[in-house]
Amino acid sequence: MQEKIEKIKQELANLEAENITELEKIRIYFLGKKGILTALFEELKLLQPEEKKIYGKQLNELKNQIQYFINSKKRELELKSAESQTKIDFTRPADIFHPSSLHPINIVKNRIINIFARIGFDIAEDIEIEDDWHNFTALNFPTDHPARDMQDTFFIERDPDIVLRTHTSSVQIRIMESQKPPIRYIFPGRVYRNEAISSRSHVFFHQVEGLYIDYNVSFADLKDTLEYLAQSLFDPSTKIRLRPSYFPFTEPSAEMDISCNLCDGDGCSFCKNTGWVEILGCGMVHPNVLNNCNIDPNIFSGFAFGLGIERITNLLFSINDLRLFSENDLNFLHLFSTLE
Ligand code: PHE
Repeated sequence: MQEKIEKIKQELANLEAENITELEKIRIYFLGKKGILTALFEELKLLQPEEKKIYGKQLNELKNQIQYFINSKKRELELKSAESQTKIDFTRPADIFHPSSLHPINIVKNRIINIFARIGFDIAEDIEIEDDWHNFTALNFPTDHPARDMQDTFFIERDPDIVLRTHTSSVQIRIMESQKPPIRYIFPGRVYRNEAISSRSHVFFHQVEGLYIDYNVSFADLKDTLEYLAQSLFDPSTKIRLRPSYFPFTEPSAEMDISCNLCDGDGCSFCKNTGWVEILGCGMVHPNVLNNCNIDPNIFSGFAFGLGIERITNLLFSINDLRLFSENDLNFLHLFSTLE
């Protein structure tokens, strides 16, 4: 026993470990289940009580010594590796720096503003918390029109006369009440509807409204303007199609489709094999609306249209989930950092 203890003492004096793996090997060699010190403890059990006392003490001291070596060496190695990790490597290429970028909705909004600025349209913005008059009544909504229903509109609880505007058409009224024709404007802005949030609908989204009131404004002017819009936003070969529709504030009313920009009108799953996708509502401003704003419908006429910016953005950039626009996911937003 004495000899074996002496031998371990010698080995201990020369112990060295370069890394954690080596250190672990040392631990197993001495203290593991089949380690040499563990074996000596087994042998100890067979000795006489007198010897047990002497060698037991020595073995315990050895064990403590080894444990101490392992613990302190481990701390030393950990410290070293932490240091080496924080060292600055001046040759390393810099991390990619992401400057802030425009939100895709703003990119498309700006494109639409520029397209209309080229043909002499001004821009106006107005309030999002509206009264019933500007959002509904002046726009010729009958009192029992379903669009006033609680399902679509966010009413302010204490005053049902106040709503979060459900469309930018409210700005038509505000402009026509305060200006005389010729009126040639677009109104970009946020609108609100009480809908369940999903990939296809959201409680808020963005629209651009257009309004042109002057002498002799005709449906042909509307059609020309919208064709110019579609071909400027999408491809110059884009075709448009107007389908009869209904809005209380326009007569006649129409919905406009463009030839599907993904399959060039051949038919694909996106356009449900029709070759067309709907992008906006439009029509000639209803005489009642002009009257409500003190513009004489016998002298002036005009057109209006309203498009959803999200819809255009989805088409332009093949985005299929509306929620992406309001989640502020940097990985998504950075996709647009090089676009204008
Ligand atoms: N305000 C209508 C909507 O939100 C769109 C529209 C605007 C239709 C102007 C006709 C004229 O659906």
